[in-house]
Amino acid sequence: MGHIDTLRGTGGPSPVSFEDFDSRLLPAWETLRGPAGRPCPRVEAAAKVTGCARYSGDRHLPGQLYGAILRSPIPHGEVEHLDASRARALPGVHAVLCHHDAPALRWRKCLLFDPRVRFVGDEVAAVAAETPQQAADALRLIDVRYRPLPFVLDADRALADGAPRIHADGNLAEEPKRYARGDVERGFAEADVVMDLVFTTQAALHNSLESHGCTARWENGSLTLWESTQGIHQIRADVARHLELSDNRVRVITEHMGGGFGAKLVMWKHSLIAALLARRSNRPVQLMLDRTAENLAAGNRNPTRQHVRLGAKRDGRLTAIEVTAVAAIGANAVSGESSNVTGVYQRLYRCANVRTEQLAVHTNTGPSCAFRAPGYVEGVFGLESAMDALARELALDPMALRLANYTERDQVRDLLYSAPDGLRGCHARAASAARSPDAPHLKLEAQAVRRGVGIAAHEWGGGGSPPAYAWAKLNADGTLDVVMGVQDIGTGTRTGLTQIAAEELGIDLARVTVHIGDTATGPFAPQSGGSATLATLGPAVRAAVADLGARAVDAAARLHDQDVTALCRERGRIVRSDGTAEWRLEQIAEALAPQMLTGAGLRSGNPPERSVRTFGVQIAEVAVNVRTGEVVVERLVAAHDCGRVINPKLVASQILGGVTQGVGFALFEERLVDEATGVPLNANLEDYHVPTQADAPAVVVAPGDRPDTAANAIGAKGIGEPPMIPVAPAIANAVYDAVGVRITELPLTRARVLAALARAGEAG
Ligand code: MOS
Repeated sequence: MGHIDTLRGTGGPSPVSFEDFDSRLLPAWETLRGPAGRPCPRVEAAAKVTGCARYSGDRHLPGQLYGAILRSPIPHGEVEHLDASRARALPGVHAVLCHHDAPALRWRKCLLFDPRVRFVGDEVAAVAAETPQQAADALRLIDVRYRPLPFVLDADRALADGAPRIHADGNLAEEPKRYARGDVERGFAEADVVMDLVFTTQAALHNSLESHGCTARWENGSLTLWESTQGIHQIRADVARHLELSDNRVRVITEHMGGGFGAKLVMWKHSLIAALLARRSNRPVQLMLDRTAENLAAGNRNPTRQHVRLGAKRDGRLTAIEVTAVAAIGANAVSGESSNVTGVYQRLYRCANVRTEQLAVHTNTGPSCAFRAPGYVEGVFGLESAMDALARELALDPMALRLANYTERDQVRDLLYSAPDGLRGCHARAASAARSPDAPHLKLEAQAVRRGVGIAAHEWGGGGSPPAYAWAKLNADGTLDVVMGVQDIGTGTRTGLTQIAAEELGIDLARVTVHIGDTATGPFAPQSGGSATLATLGPAVRAAVADLGARAVDAAARLHDQDVTALCRERGRIVRSDGTAEWRLEQIAEALAPQMLTGAGLRSGNPPERSVRTFGVQIAEVAVNVRTGEVVVERLVAAHDCGRVINPKLVASQILGGVTQGVGFALFEERLVDEATGVPLNANLEDYHVPTQADAPAVVVAPGDRPDTAANAIGAKGIGEPPMIPVAPAIANAVYDAVGVRITELPLTRARVLAALARAGEAG
């Protein structure tokens, strides 16, 4: 969990100090003159659009087999009898693993192949065969008899007396997370109004374009995994520990991947299964999950119920905030979920009296895990819907209410924010963008359509932190290679880091190659998560290149018999301060060859006296058809604070993607599980609707580009997760504005909208 805490921006300062190449020794960039800050296309764009970019499933190694996993058809039970002899006898089958014929490896709270199954999709057995078809046939020939056990699908019933016990230590997955400051009872006693509301959010599925999976190969006792992962070093450490190998006997490679959204932060069972199948069969094994397996067993956003109470004075000042959140996390605590539903209640508004509680509960459903801003997407729906209700109750402008409770401090850590005005700036930019007149209008029947506007704000981490490292080398022709043990999960990490390296050395983008995605060559970097990758690795890259640059100055002095103190580095050249001489870096590199200039840099700690957070405000404009219940998001203004914008094109891409994913979560994405059988009904892309272009609103990106110079040496913070956070409450608040009905359950399906309208009609 340590790594994850770091991702979420709660990690403490590094206990180790390496003064030499520490990124804190770098002066903050004042102005950008090189490639950073420019909207350049991704460096791998051509490889991706031509199909040359290789993903985990694109490996075709000599002799490679295909793995497949047999999954439980029932939500809870014991494997009473398992006979794989017919599968083993099938031509083309090279290995079969099950609970009585596999190493008894533990995975989280269970065994890799556990004789107890706890959700539909739980792993029961695995095969490797020469073709995917043979593997599928072999699975069908495994005879399994299950003894069904009573099961439980929702959190309330799982906590009730006499509920089926999912793990030996009970259905409460962990100690409740509790937080308090001030005196909440007094806060409510002082309030003029108290809002008391219950919100629920649904289970949503990640549906990364590329599913989970890997290709595993053993050579001389060493394992290579081509894995679709957000953390190559995390996978290496976890696989090595489980298989009792030393770290350098496991190599994890992620050249390109088609998204993860949090579901690929940690090692899942398939990585170990692929490795064991490959060892058993003495062949490389590729094991990619199909879409059904992906949606049954490889993560989801846990459903929540949040009981929210807000107390406020007539003028809008909050006197108390209280929330109890219950999350149904499924059959396993995967780790990496860190779903912090209550965090935003603690930080977003200035309030002396706050009490929060969060329970994580096991259910007989697929394990949940981190999903783009885990906890915050859910929590902000509750908090920002409640704030909207409070604004209505007090007849205050919803933005004015938020600004009346503005805080420049992180109240949890009792520290000033590194950007105390960050959120204020988002409000201002959102307001001015929302006033622009170019709102498109849909051709819906005018009489049936009501239009409305809603707002929601948020805060989040994304400031990055140590440890992370970068190594740089200058080739004889003046081109630069930078090596890091990080991965690009599809966000544009490779491109942003290339821009930062080129900017620091003052050379063209085309002369820089960033090498990432391989634990064998790259030094440690954390998982790509918490929106922290650029802010974590960027300063390390700058430090490595600056270190190399300092050596270039030294080398120039020796080569040209100069006093080193009279020389400095300027835009790809070494110049004499009096302007009488200068040498281009490639001249130095060529003169030195085959000697080589290298550099090593590391990410320093964050400023101890500041809290580095990101912020955002979104304004949604919706049209609601009161006859059909259809909600159409016509326009959405997104104003986010991510500090310095290293690449406006990539930032806009994250905002468009996050908003679109948020629209799906707000309006229709929901995993449905059959109450009678525990079987998920829509673990596919036919019945589980993700948004298409037709569902995407016109997104107005109102980015700030104010370097957060107090945060780190590049002044940049994350933007990966934030754009999804406030979408649902902004839309729900707009629906209220349009039709006067507050819907407290996500998603806002047509059926829910119509039911709410009918209830309001009866009541009114
Ligand atoms: Mo993120 S949900 O930390 O990939």
